[in-house]
Amino acid sequence: MLKIRKETPLDFDLIDEVTSLAFKNHQKGQLIQALRKNDAFKEELSLVATKNEIVIGYLLLFPTHIINNYRRHTTLLLASMAVMPDRQKQGVGAALLKEAIKQAQKIGLGSIVVSENSEYFFRFGFKNASRWNITMPVSAPGETILALELNRQGFSQVSGTVSVPEEFNSIL
Ligand SMILES: CC(C)(COP(=O)(O)OP(=O)(O)OC[C@H]1O[C@@H](n2cnc3c(N)ncnc32)[C@H](O)[C@@H]1OP(=O)(O)O)[C@@H](O)C(=O)NCCC(=O)NCCS
Repeated sequence: MLKIRKETPLDFDLIDEVTSLAFKNHQKGQLIQALRKNDAFKEELSLVATKNEIVIGYLLLFPTHIINNYRRHTTLLLASMAVMPDRQKQGVGAALLKEAIKQAQKIGLGSIVVSENSEYFFRFGFKNASRWNITMPVSAPGETILALELNRQGFSQVSGTVSVPEEFNSIL
């Protein structure tokens, strides 16, 4: 049975393996290891998907801010989402994202942003962040900033630049 739960230290090696295989590189794994040491890291937003107790998927939402001259709005950056290649297209990614959204709402956070060249996120209600004038300091060619409001306040009166944790710049 597919289960979604927060990570424990016993999962670290398998999370590394899943992300390396899904992204075909080791950088995302290194990024996750570095982010775990950042004080902002929240265990409840670092989720594994397991089948028969084996880790087959992983998702990390990392707290950060959208900043402009007037205010700082707390948001969550989707730092990593990966499913073992031979387990993809079976709803594992969707189950991880739905649980992550639930956990984020539970701790009172109102939005998620993701920088991706993927239309995958539209099916979960993400929209192009340009509609709120939300940007990233730098994005890779072809990458779009997508964002999801998790409550009624969402991005009302929010615009600005997503503060990307230093670990992203040093590792990716
Ligand atoms: C993106 C990813 C996490 C999705 O996980 P998954 O378990 O396969 O997702 P689901 O089973 O919930 O959904 C599968 C659907 O998403 C679609 N999909 C997967 N990747 C996609 C992409 N990059 N762009 C658009 N659609 C995508 C599949 O075609 C499939 O469509 P269908 O339902 O019409 O058949 C997985 O493909 C993956 O690990 N990819 C490599 C890592 C990556 O690119 N992560 C991106 C986010 S940081």
